[in-house]
Amino acid sequence: HLRFFSTVALAAVLGTTACTKKPSNAVSNEILVGEVGSMTGSEATFGISTHNGIELAMIQVNSAGGVQGKQMRVLLMDNQSKPEESATAVTKLITQDKVQAILGEVASSRSLAMAPIAQANKIPMITPSSTNPRVTQIGDHIFRVCFIDPFQGSVMAKFAGGSLKAKRAAILRDIKSDYSMGLANFFAETFRKMGGEIVVEQSYSAGDVDFKSQLTSIKSKNPEVIFVPGYYTEVGLIARQTRELGIKVPLLGGDGWDSAKLTEIGGPALDGSYFSNHYSPEDKNPVVQKFITDYKAKFGAVPDGLASMGYDAFMVLSEAMKRAKSLSNADVRQAIAETKNFNGVTGVISIDKNRDAVKPAVVLEIKGGKFIYRETVNPS
Ligand code: PHE
Repeated sequence: HLRFFSTVALAAVLGTTACTKKPSNAVSNEILVGEVGSMTGSEATFGISTHNGIELAMIQVNSAGGVQGKQMRVLLMDNQSKPEESATAVTKLITQDKVQAILGEVASSRSLAMAPIAQANKIPMITPSSTNPRVTQIGDHIFRVCFIDPFQGSVMAKFAGGSLKAKRAAILRDIKSDYSMGLANFFAETFRKMGGEIVVEQSYSAGDVDFKSQLTSIKSKNPEVIFVPGYYTEVGLIARQTRELGIKVPLLGGDGWDSAKLTEIGGPALDGSYFSNHYSPEDKNPVVQKFITDYKAKFGAVPDGLASMGYDAFMVLSEAMKRAKSLSNADVRQAIAETKNFNGVTGVISIDKNRDAVKPAVVLEIKGGKFIYRETVNPS
């Protein structure tokens, strides 16, 4: 039962791609955008939420008249939460479907598998939420609308050392994930600078279900917090096993925790733990509240951070296409690079010279299965 949502995901995939006509002629009244997402597999909620956000943005843009007289259409491909499938999908979208831009992926390791292909074909790619710094370093066609992990790691290190007054931290990270490995290092760097000590570092591999031996060795070192920069499926299991071993200290994590599945899997074991994220639905900003109302009306749920990032990624792309001198790849790439002060759901988005967005993060606390807003941290 770790394969969530497969039926929903299939419906979503078919819903978007089933009636796809082969785009062939240059003079089309549509703008085709390729999306690669984890609609099935261990991070299915990431792909599904992101796609919902993208779809909502697309509908709003199209009903307001589209872009340069054309309607936008998203072709979605599922990568089953796998890097190899992501590379295959992006190749197909570019070479066969002739998409004009790529949206995706969420997980940094999968964006890193896709980016060299988009770059080689000179197709602009925007990842909504991959935070590993290397993703946009692949080349000048690769952008993101989220913050990066050196910032996110420092946010949680300062929260641990400041708000929680911890001096001793343990780290438990996923060696198969570029995101997890990077974020662990960035956390450790800032935590040490603040005078804290990393008393033990342990690893697992995505897909593992038994974390008892790592947690036993962590327990023997008596940390005051445990930093677990992973994705929700493993983190939920880790939380349960942490409490089963009698470890009572808070777990800390990053945006990879953001899923309703996290607390379904982890239950009360997660109460009193904290993670950093891209947005909070408690934000009173009217842009945020309108998005939540629209999203609820369409999908019947409060959007998570992924949905918000997907929405913002599509909006940044469509705004850039509206501003672009033409819809050529070069002009669209240029227009995305020139994005300044775009008023997104996840904050004000300006693309910097590294093609990253510099934005605040929020820290959320888990209480009774809910994510409660604690604080906003601005980049320095
Ligand atoms: N930032 C994560 C990564 O780079 C992906 C992620 C983003 C997961 C937002 C959940 C929420 O791998």
